[in-house]
Amino acid sequence: MQPHYEALGLQAWEWRKKPVETPAVSDWESLQQAVSQCTACGLHQGRTQTVFGVGNPQAQLMIIGEAPGFHEDQQGEPFVGRAGQLLTAMIKTMGMTREEVYIANILKCRPPNNRDPQADEVQTCTPFLHQQIALVKPQLLLAVGRIAAHYLLKTKASLESLRNKMHAYGDHNTPLIITYHPAYLLRNPADKKKAFLDLQFVMRTLRQSR
Ligand code: URA
Repeated sequence: MQPHYEALGLQAWEWRKKPVETPAVSDWESLQQAVSQCTACGLHQGRTQTVFGVGNPQAQLMIIGEAPGFHEDQQGEPFVGRAGQLLTAMIKTMGMTREEVYIANILKCRPPNNRDPQADEVQTCTPFLHQQIALVKPQLLLAVGRIAAHYLLKTKASLESLRNKMHAYGDHNTPLIITYHPAYLLRNPADKKKAFLDLQFVMRTLRQSR
């Protein structure tokens, strides 16, 4: 019988003795294949396909979102829906193209009805993202939105308090900047001005690291 962990307010990953192992792979092809065949969490059951990542595998800037939505699940590419169009415009604002940056999500499969990712799904899937970051070796990470920021920084702080600061991510202390999710900006266009300031911060940081 399985312990009734939910009664204690625990998440699945908190009681599992050993988390599901996501295989460590060291080249793009094997990593992409491992992602496309992954059945390590329940999300694989509802997906049309996995959404790996897109862009320049040697990008200076890597943008990290939350999870695929309906259009991304259909097309197999991150940020292709309405929020994706705004993300593309944000990239353009920085004088770059989608092809020059690398774009990936924390989760590679669409959560049902676009619900927030669950902690166990993130725990199972983030090794793939770590490996993408290790392969791209970007000079700077830009996390868009509260969910990506919270999981990357292991914090519950408000997005507002995380903006306009330089953070560091992972064993290599890769510089990390946080800004609003484009889907949020579509709902709250007044905050586009603040997002613009964040993008200028990204551009300054990239200029200084060249
Ligand atoms: N929102 C995300 O966070 N990622 C996508 O790929 C699409 C929408």
